[in-house]
Amino acid sequence: MRHLLNPLDFKVDEIDHLLNLAHDIEEHREKYAHVCAGKKLATLFYEPSTRTRLSFEAAMLNLGGSILGFSSADSSSAAKGESVADTIRVISCYADICAMRHPKEGAPLVASQFSTIPVINAGDGGHQHPTQTLTDLLTIKSLKGRLDNLTIGLCGDLKFGRTVHSLINALVRYSNIHFVLISPQELKIPEYVREKLINTQGVTFTEVSNLDEALPQLDILYMTRVQKERFFNEEDYIRLKDSYILTKEKMKLAKDDMYILHPLPRVNEISVEVDKDPRAAYFRQAQYGVYVRMALIMTLLEVDKPC
Ligand code: NCD
Repeated sequence: MRHLLNPLDFKVDEIDHLLNLAHDIEEHREKYAHVCAGKKLATLFYEPSTRTRLSFEAAMLNLGGSILGFSSADSSSAAKGESVADTIRVISCYADICAMRHPKEGAPLVASQFSTIPVINAGDGGHQHPTQTLTDLLTIKSLKGRLDNLTIGLCGDLKFGRTVHSLINALVRYSNIHFVLISPQELKIPEYVREKLINTQGVTFTEVSNLDEALPQLDILYMTRVQKERFFNEEDYIRLKDSYILTKEKMKLAKDDMYILHPLPRVNEISVEVDKDPRAAYFRQAQYGVYVRMALIMTLLEVDKPC
């Protein structure tokens, strides 16, 4: 039995296989409509979510399976003091696979140690978010036709943004990747992520604070929200929240084939006027999230690809 806790749990060729499966699902939706009939997905969400939870549920329903779960810690027995370990033991009796989001780093890992069903990390604190990364990889591959030879700008809250940490983890394994890390001093990537970048051969990166200067060289701009819920005090959040705002004017500095990605939700960091730009790919990205989660559920449940 396999879990997905970190993008590194899948080898590069397994990720390629998964992205190809997601692509086939996109092209031939009807072929996959019943492959998970009789299977149940539990979504255990101890933290707010719109896209991740609903795209998991849509994915399972698209495969002909069923769903159950809770969408906040308050509505589960966590509010009575139940441990993640006990909850997952019980959920293992009710469902065939589960997706867990939790504010504590490592909670899905703990769950996987007590679970008898595959556990998918749907975001653990400021740590990792591997299924967002699969979504991001599928989006980049679909739009640019490749996952190597890219200059990727990551902009905003690189400290607390778990989608950024997971995406770096996954992309360092492809060749000739250059990262431009764009953030205020206080929101730079954590040391463990920087070490990974330093210690991986063939990967280069620069850390800057100015978005305008970085824009002209980028193939992908990955914007992120300042993660309000992870700040220790509101003053710092208020000071940093509008560090970057991508506008129509700024987009004149970018290449014609540079795509903008964002895991969403967006707050102020991309002005709504940019949505009409053909390079704005964040809503398409949300759609890719369903296909890739369908492919992931099939893979972890060892469901064969239909002919
Ligand atoms: C992200 C998350 O939860 O980390 N959202 C998502 O899953 N698409 C990004 C964020 O909340 O800023």
